Amino acid sequence: MPTYCIIGTNRGLGLEFVRQLAASPDNTIVATVRPEADRTELSKVASTTTHIVECDTASVPSVHIFCNNVARNILNGADGPSTNQIDYLIVNAGVNGSPRDQDSLMLNPVLLSEQMAVNVVGPAKVLEFLVDRKALSPSVRVINMSSSLGSMERSATMSPRVCVGYSITKAALNMLTVHQGHDLRARGLDKAVVIAMDPGWVKTRMGGESAQLEAKVSVAGMLEVLHALKSEDNAAFYGSDAERRPW
Ligand SMILES: NC(=O)c1ccc[n+]([C@@H]2O[C@H](COP(=O)([O-])OP(=O)(O)OC[C@H]3O[C@@H](n4cnc5c(N)ncnc54)[C@H](OP(=O)(O)O)[C@@H]3O)[C@@H](O)[C@H]2O)c1
Repeated sequence: MPTYCIIGTNRGLGLEFVRQLAASPDNTIVATVRPEADRTELSKVASTTTHIVECDTASVPSVHIFCNNVARNILNGADGPSTNQIDYLIVNAGVNGSPRDQDSLMLNPVLLSEQMAVNVVGPAKVLEFLVDRKALSPSVRVINMSSSLGSMERSATMSPRVCVGYSITKAALNMLTVHQGHDLRARGLDKAVVIAMDPGWVKTRMGGESAQLEAKVSVAGMLEVLHALKSEDNAAFYGSDAERRPW
C-alpha cells in the first residue's frame, strides 16, 4: 500500500500522475493544489484514496501548514512521528515566466525571483518540512521536476537560447537535488534516493501544443523510472525515457 505525495496536480503533468496512480486502489495519494486552483479535472480522476490538500509552494508558510497537515491528518502523526510515511514524493509544481527571447543580459529581477520561489525554494522547503515531521520513509524516492533547460552541458551548445531565467532556476534545482540526496542520508534516511527529472517536451499549458510528447507517455515513463530507482541512483538526473541526462 504505497503512499505517493505529488505537488501541483490540478493540471498538466501533475494531473496525469494522479490519473495514472489513482487507477490502482492500493495507492494512497496526497495531491496538492493552490487554494485558488480549479479542481474540476482533479476531482474527476481522484480515487477514494486520494487526498486533495492545499499548498502554495511560492509561500513558505503555506508549505509549512501543508506539511503539518499531511503529517497529522493523513499520515496519522498527531503531534509525534507519523505512523504512515510517504514512499514516493514528486515535486512537480513549477513556473516558467521567462520571455522566450530574453537573454541573460536583460534578466527581469522580479520574474527571476518569482521563479526561484516556486522552482527552487518551494521544493527545498517541502522536503525540509516533511523530514522535520518524520513524514518520509527511510527509503523514500523523490523526484524534483527539472528540465533539459536546466542542464549546463545542453545550455553550452544550445541555439537559440530560450527561457534563460527559467533555465537558471532549473539548474539551481538540479544542484538542490544533489545536496538533498546526500543530506537525507546524513539525517538517517539511509536508503533515500532523490533525483532530478527531465519530463521531455510535453503537451501541457507550459509545454504548448507543438510539444513532442503526450503527458500520458511522459508520466508513464517517469513512473517506470521512479519505481526502478536503486540506491546508486541517488542524486542523478534522469529523463522520462529512462536515460541519464548530463548536468
Ligand atoms: N511541459 C513541458 O514540456 C515541461 C518540460 C520540462 C519541465 N517541465 C516541468 O514539469 C513540471 C510540470 O509542468 P507542466 O508542463 O505540467 O506545467 P503546467 O501545465 O503549467 O502545470 C504547472 C503546475 O504547477 C502548479 N503550480 C504553479 N505554481 C505553483 C505554486 N506556487 N504552488 C503550487 N503549485 C503551483 C500549477 O498550479 P496552478 O494551476 O494553480 O497554477 C500546475 O498544477 C514543471 O516543474 C515544469 O517546469 C515541463
